[in-house]
Amino acid sequence: MEIKTLENIDITLSPTSKINEVDFENISFGNTFTDHMLVCDFADGKWQQPKIVPYAPITLDPSAKVFHYGQAIFEGMKAYKDDQDDVWLFRPEQNHDRFNKSAVRMCMPEVPEDIFLGGLKKLLQIEKDWVKKGQGNSLYIRPFMFASGKGVVAAPAQFYKFMILLSPAKAYYSGEVKVLIAEHYSRAANGGIGAAKAAGNYAGQFYPTKLANEKGYQQVIWTDDATHTKLEEAGTMNVFFRINDILYTAPTSERILDGITRKSLIELAKRENINVEVRSVLVDELVTAAKDGSLKEIFGAGTAAVVNPIVGFGYKEEYYELPKLENSLALELKAKLTNIQYKKADDTFGWTV
Ligand code: COI
Repeated sequence: MEIKTLENIDITLSPTSKINEVDFENISFGNTFTDHMLVCDFADGKWQQPKIVPYAPITLDPSAKVFHYGQAIFEGMKAYKDDQDDVWLFRPEQNHDRFNKSAVRMCMPEVPEDIFLGGLKKLLQIEKDWVKKGQGNSLYIRPFMFASGKGVVAAPAQFYKFMILLSPAKAYYSGEVKVLIAEHYSRAANGGIGAAKAAGNYAGQFYPTKLANEKGYQQVIWTDDATHTKLEEAGTMNVFFRINDILYTAPTSERILDGITRKSLIELAKRENINVEVRSVLVDELVTAAKDGSLKEIFGAGTAAVVNPIVGFGYKEEYYELPKLENSLALELKAKLTNIQYKKADDTFGWTV
């Protein structure tokens, strides 16, 4: 696809740049932002002219509904630089689509393509020096929207802000990832907002994750809320299990985010003739497979984390270590995916833009 350049945009450039102060080799995820950001207000029932302005704090009314009722959604995307210094996005129309699905679920206005994708293109043109070359380097893109309208009546706001921030990134996790299977807490429920990228879905994970951290685990594997018998997501990522030579991942549902990395890995695995089945894996099945040695791999998949191997899992006070494999499917699929993202391999799917 071609992203149309957005003409109708106000641009105020920052008189100085922070880029020379940044140590790009030692960057921790999500703490450094580029010189500019995109801002667009929704007022009087329509989107106003988008602006690119120097990155700076914003002012909000203390009664803005985002603070009281959590009307807030976001997306996670990345830009990659190839050896010719061209900057690429990966399936950005999917993020735009999902963002608007989240907006509808949270009773917020949808953001048109020219503002979301056209505005992002303009911002990236200005910030292209912040995208560093080399596998593992990327510019993490955080589009988000929140209710800026004031008043503590529990009803949707009339005013919203859509913004895009850019943050140079390397790996999301810096060490090994062990996961604890949730026996009590849930990430989402049927009829709820689990399929939306709603800010509150993530806040709701912090407490169970903190309890897991105290037991030595980095993340939680979420199970279904009704029975806690089906494995659903790992932390902030979709999750894959390899039992013998079959990869399994849960179907997307009202409880499970329709991850773009997840769906791309499924398509890549099919192309590579790797057996992949979209079905729920039961906790009991996983424990049995870990005990009899047929469980080979677990890995998380998400934009920020890419493909993240998991070294072991905990369940009911037992810890199950996963084997260290020479022929890891997680690493094979990760290499295939990132080669497409960094334009080192043919993009036969037409995913890069
Ligand atoms: C992403 O992978 O982009 C996400 O949305 C996860 C986020 C919590 C860092």
